[in-house]
Amino acid sequence: MSARENGLPDVVTAPNLPDRVTIWEVGPRDGLQNEDSVVPVEVKLEFLDRLADAGLTVLEATSFVHPRWVPQLADAEQLLAGLAKRPGVAYPVLVPNERGLDRALAAGVEHIAIFASATATFASRNLNNTLDDQFGMFEPVVSRAKAEGLAVRGYVSMCFGDPWEGAVPRDQVIGVGKRLLDMGCDQLSLGDTIGVATPGQVTALLAGFDDVDRLAVHFHDTYGQALANTLAALQAGVRTVDSSAGGLGGCPYAESATGNLATEDLVWMLDGLGVEHGVDLDRLCDTSAWMADRLGRPSPSRVVRALRG
Ligand code: HMG
Ligand code: MG
Repeated sequence: MSARENGLPDVVTAPNLPDRVTIWEVGPRDGLQNEDSVVPVEVKLEFLDRLADAGLTVLEATSFVHPRWVPQLADAEQLLAGLAKRPGVAYPVLVPNERGLDRALAAGVEHIAIFASATATFASRNLNNTLDDQFGMFEPVVSRAKAEGLAVRGYVSMCFGDPWEGAVPRDQVIGVGKRLLDMGCDQLSLGDTIGVATPGQVTALLAGFDDVDRLAVHFHDTYGQALANTLAALQAGVRTVDSSAGGLGGCPYAESATGNLATEDLVWMLDGLGVEHGVDLDRLCDTSAWMADRLGRPSPSRVVRALRG
């Protein structure tokens, strides 16, 4: 069932919306990195298959980070070896440093994402690095990856608030983001890691970048603002939105980070607005309900709960 099939009027009321949005599904990575238990690799592979069946075309599959730092994703090599890649589906992975890139290249990865911090405290806690020196870690990763023909995304975390430093100055975020773009990242994803942003702040941050076509947004939903923030981003010209099936997610190194914007909640809103996305909501809800069973708790997605109760 969609918003329109539910009897809602078939009208688009919000201005400046795109015809189509690319959904960048982060559930297999951001979702599963924060689980208390390690999900078996067979379950992860089935999750990826089901997400592709539901029509998602970008599946952030795993991370080649230090296995001691994120044991939940320590099976990255095994996962890639077992993955039946679908034509037309991209499977980006997180890579923090050259060691991670070596591993990703050996596993046949074609698309990577580096992940920088907008704040010094999170750079230290998440990357064991300083705000300035993180760029020295990423530069050889980006240049080698580009030379190998890989697509490269750059994340900026803590774009709005940081649990240790409080409000993050907009210029600091823009400075970090522009350095990643100048380094050669094809796309920049602006992350509200702890889910504190509100729409006016999103509009203000996005206005600080010249080329909105290269921007994506990544909202965690701690304060229930992720959908409103997404709408603000779409109206500012963003065409790629990160979300997580069933609303799984969080960062083990960020206090108070909760789940990502749920892909189902995003799809429901896009359907209501008449924005194309290519996802089959029923299949996606089935997948999130199936994964919730594997994890032993209900899906945090409002739409999954409404439709699968
Ligand atoms: P470190 O301990 O400083 O690493 O960690 P090091 O460079 O000092 O190396 C120490 C040892 O680790 C060496 O081994 C390296 O080879 C090995 P030794 O020589 O001692 O035997 N090593 C590795 N092994 C496997 N894979 C690697 C790797 N790198 C080094 N890639 C490091 C630094 C960056 C590796 C560590 O801090 C790390 O892995 N951090 C990742 C944390 C993480 O994954 N956080 C979650 C993702 S970010 C997020 O969720 C936010 C996001 O969703 C956006 C948002 O929400 O805003 C993206
Ligand atoms: Mg995240």
